[in-house]
Amino acid sequence: MKVLLTRKLHDFAVNELRKRYNVEINRGKIPMSKKDLLTKIRDKDGLICFPYDTIDSEVIDAAKNLKAISTYSVGYDQIDIKHAAKKGIVVSYTPEVLTRATADLTIALILDLLRRVTEGDRIIRHNKWKTIFGPDDFLGTDFYGKTLGIFGMGRIGRAVAKRAKGFEINILYHNRHKLTKNEEKDLRIRYVTLKRLFEESDIITVHTPYTEETHEIVNLQLFKRMKPTALLINTARGKIIKEKDLIFALKKKIIAGAALDVFQKEPIDRKHPLVRMENVVLTPHIGSSTKETRRKMAEIAVENLILSLSGKNPRYVVNTF
Ligand code: DGY
Repeated sequence: MKVLLTRKLHDFAVNELRKRYNVEINRGKIPMSKKDLLTKIRDKDGLICFPYDTIDSEVIDAAKNLKAISTYSVGYDQIDIKHAAKKGIVVSYTPEVLTRATADLTIALILDLLRRVTEGDRIIRHNKWKTIFGPDDFLGTDFYGKTLGIFGMGRIGRAVAKRAKGFEINILYHNRHKLTKNEEKDLRIRYVTLKRLFEESDIITVHTPYTEETHEIVNLQLFKRMKPTALLINTARGKIIKEKDLIFALKKKIIAGAALDVFQKEPIDRKHPLVRMENVVLTPHIGSSTKETRRKMAEIAVENLILSLSGKNPRYVVNTF
């Protein structure tokens, strides 16, 4: 069988694949151009792709032998899942293993914004630190006693709640499905509507998947409901937030700040308005980016593909048909 990787994975993972299949690895542009992808996928039985690839119906139709798509990510919004199912192609993904790393980054970003860590670093590097320990110097905000609003209470949302509890804060959440009373009690969280979540929280963190329903769901209407001191964190997907509205809300001080790991277009352009804002912390889509996690993701992505191509259930399946 023939397998395509849209970029190189760890050596151990590639070796596992090479033991079984004829493996082609894209060594060119990342992401691959549509033209290149359409050509290379034509005779492949299996595909390992990444969150930035676009595996739409055209790509799926071009892949005459394709039986399995394994994405090296928890998100699978880049794949036309329905079309893959129609064609009998199994789609698998890598959840669970990256939950902790992504929740950790979320907490890091919250603390960074509250305590102005990155801003402080910039102040020193730009030679703007002139006097020491003034009572009003570089004041941040306590996390203690604040209200954290978690939008999306799946694996990552729950892991954020677990970690955040230790800071002695109140936690509200909004999710498509309300959790059971026991789960809510365990995590010490309270369900509210989306509007109330944005109205009552001091910090909002987004952990919902990107779907047609969540496309730009966080927009000016919601920003206008937020406190002027409120902060927004996004480690989920860029397109959940209407970036144009966020820029407006930050400029007009409708909200106080934002920390973003994901963007509408990645990599974000150097000249993007967000890059020029002091009340914003930006990281380059590193939610799952720890040595340990990325290695485990490779292990699972490969295992998923091998199982799917041998007609078995992958460890983590997206579509059933
Ligand atoms: C994923 O796996 O979907 C994440 O965005 C990676 O950080």
